Amino acid sequence: MKISKAVFPVGGLGTRFFPITRAIPKEMLGIINKPLVHYAFEEALTAGIEEFIFVTRHGKDSIEDYFDYMSIHSEYFNLKMGSVCYVRQNEPLGLGHAVLCAKNLIGNETFAVVSADDFILHRESCLGEMIKHYDGSNMVATMGVDYRDVDKYGILDVDYETGKLVIAKSVDEKPSIASAKSTYAIVGRYLLSPKIFDVLADLPPGVGGEVQLTDALLQMIPLCGLVGFRFDGKRFDCGSKSGLLAAILHVASQNSELRNVIEDFCGSRVEGFR
Ligand code: UTP
Repeated sequence: MKISKAVFPVGGLGTRFFPITRAIPKEMLGIINKPLVHYAFEEALTAGIEEFIFVTRHGKDSIEDYFDYMSIHSEYFNLKMGSVCYVRQNEPLGLGHAVLCAKNLIGNETFAVVSADDFILHRESCLGEMIKHYDGSNMVATMGVDYRDVDKYGILDVDYETGKLVIAKSVDEKPSIASAKSTYAIVGRYLLSPKIFDVLADLPPGVGGEVQLTDALLQMIPLCGLVGFRFDGKRFDCGSKSGLLAAILHVASQNSELRNVIEDFCGSRVEGFR
């Protein structure tokens, strides 16, 4: 199935990165010389996305400046860029609310949602792999996490598994460790039916007082099902400081020039312990 539109919700406050995110959007934090949002965009481009819809807010103008620049310097991408547009989320009322803000730009077609702070290194494109397996159910990227971390994620209640697909019978946003039904966590890639807009429009705030996309996915299970996709590749939670640092180190370690810096640093630390 062809999916041509993707929503990039970049309206969050990024409180875990205060104070830098008071002036720089979290999505513009750099993995060496490219911001997180560059990688997310490239992943969507490789997946065949043609229309890129950013849900942005006050203080996020540098994202628009960045893609203005990229549109005239498309040599930074391996494919032609497609069209980019922006819609505002006036208040950070949650991921579900951010997605709802894109309603008029999506219309009546299945669309993707990509969270740039989930940085996924994949031989091709995590989103592209999901689109290849899309079967009409709402689909989320999923991975097994440590059971002590389940309260940071939307967690699938598994009906059954088949190949890379995890068929969910329910889903719970940030459950307690004791009540979590599995360790399959949702990470920030989604393929969604446009029917989700009607559900989101009537959804009351959930966990943390935010309109939760997970709650809309739960309501839609009787309508179209919910499938977790166990993607290939390595994911870094760049919404957290430790995840961002791990991603930077990983990317640097793949680069012959920068690898020396890491080796020098590690070598001097080892000597320091002697
Ligand atoms: P997070 O839950 O990571 O929230 O959002 P956050 O505000 O970005 O960061 P912290 O937790 O305060 O440090 C997950 C994704 O949803 C987007 C974020 O930009 C991020 O891509 N989001 C969240 C919105 O677009 N709007 C919102 O109101 C909330």
